[in-house]
Amino acid sequence: MRGMHSPQPSATTPGDGPRDQLGRALRDLRVSVTDRCNLRCRYCMPREVFGPDHAFLPREDLLGFEEISRLVRVLAGLGVGKIRITGGEPLLRRDLSELVAQIAAVEGIHDIALTTNGVLLPQHAEDLAAAGLGRVTVSLDALDDATFRAMADTAVPVASVLAGIEAAQRAGLTPVKVNAVLQRGVNDDQLEALADFGRRTGVVIRFIEFMDVGTTNGWRRDQVVPAREVVERLHARWPLDPVDDGSGAAVAERYRYRDGGGEVGVIASVTRPFCRTCTRARLSAVGELFTCLFGARGHDLRALLRGGIDDEELTARLATIWGRRDDRASERRAATGLTGERVEMSYIGG
Ligand code: GTP
Ligand code: 5AD
Ligand code: SF4
Ligand code: SF4
Repeated sequence: MRGMHSPQPSATTPGDGPRDQLGRALRDLRVSVTDRCNLRCRYCMPREVFGPDHAFLPREDLLGFEEISRLVRVLAGLGVGKIRITGGEPLLRRDLSELVAQIAAVEGIHDIALTTNGVLLPQHAEDLAAAGLGRVTVSLDALDDATFRAMADTAVPVASVLAGIEAAQRAGLTPVKVNAVLQRGVNDDQLEALADFGRRTGVVIRFIEFMDVGTTNGWRRDQVVPAREVVERLHARWPLDPVDDGSGAAVAERYRYRDGGGEVGVIASVTRPFCRTCTRARLSAVGELFTCLFGARGHDLRALLRGGIDDEELTARLATIWGRRDDRASERRAATGLTGERVEMSYIGG
């Protein structure tokens, strides 16, 4: 691995705000608004663990929308410009459009996106767009109904997700992206069908390497389909050219179909980790700030907010947290594999 401990300039646009121990700025905040979900994807919320007896976060413990938007405003002052709302399934949170409107009103926020499984989008897409949501990313791992239902452990048909994608497109929440996690022997046969769907609908499909997030999803390295293999298979069917967006900080590696069929991406968090340029912080639904997806514990911001901290002090505390950050879990995994306690994906958001 490349010189890991020397601070390096971030690949993002230079600007105000704190730099962490590896020289990375704070640019994106991912806000989880609930740890509940209406699906039970085997790799994320296996029913044996997230069953009827599972203790989800009590409603009264969740941050209120005013508390979230206050944090967004303070973090915008430290360099955050991009917000992604996640869950669990964020559309299970009542009146989510109100939160979107509050965030959209914060100076400096130029991009508001939502990660959803799409099932509830037909009911909510228009309100969300009117409130100021920019775009959505829909999780969809298979087009084949039996494969989709087995993976998401649900009776909901894949048609419901497709209806959600259409509703988002109609509401102008574009470009709609689809995140597809590939697991070898489970849904890797869906690769071409999903890509073809993207080519027909203008949706940007991104194939994600299956990750060892949390400790309950039964991750096995031999189930990871490497991004290189994905690109080779796609290229064999529809020739591709790489797209360089010049930012150097993107999660997805982008490709364009040479025949004009649009764009496709791969997210190689296992085989080509991108910690070097990671400018993301994550806020749990109860207000813990995580500086890495693979963290065990977050910083309790709710206690600060409810303890009456003023904006100046809050800004200073957040700058200190970011300044101490030295996370690079995906790089470390490449060398050693991950061990120990880790937060679950459904708790902290994708
Ligand atoms: P855009 O805002 O559309 O550019 O989205 P993005 O490219 O940042 O991707 P998105 O937020 O949709 O994340 C897609 C997937 O990438 C997530 O579901 C995770 O599986 C993975 N991912 C996103 N951020 C991180 C990260 O910081 N670390 C790791 N290891 N994986 C991440
Ligand atoms: N590895 C990769 N991606 C995952 N997601 C959930 N669990 C994992 C995992 N173990 C993705 C989902 C969704 C987003 C919320 O995170 O597919 O797109
Ligand atoms: Fe729900 Fe998304 Fe997790 Fe599936 S991956 S269980 S849709 S939060
Ligand atoms: Fe960022 Fe942690 Fe993901 Fe690396 S593993 S890209 S540091 S969130």
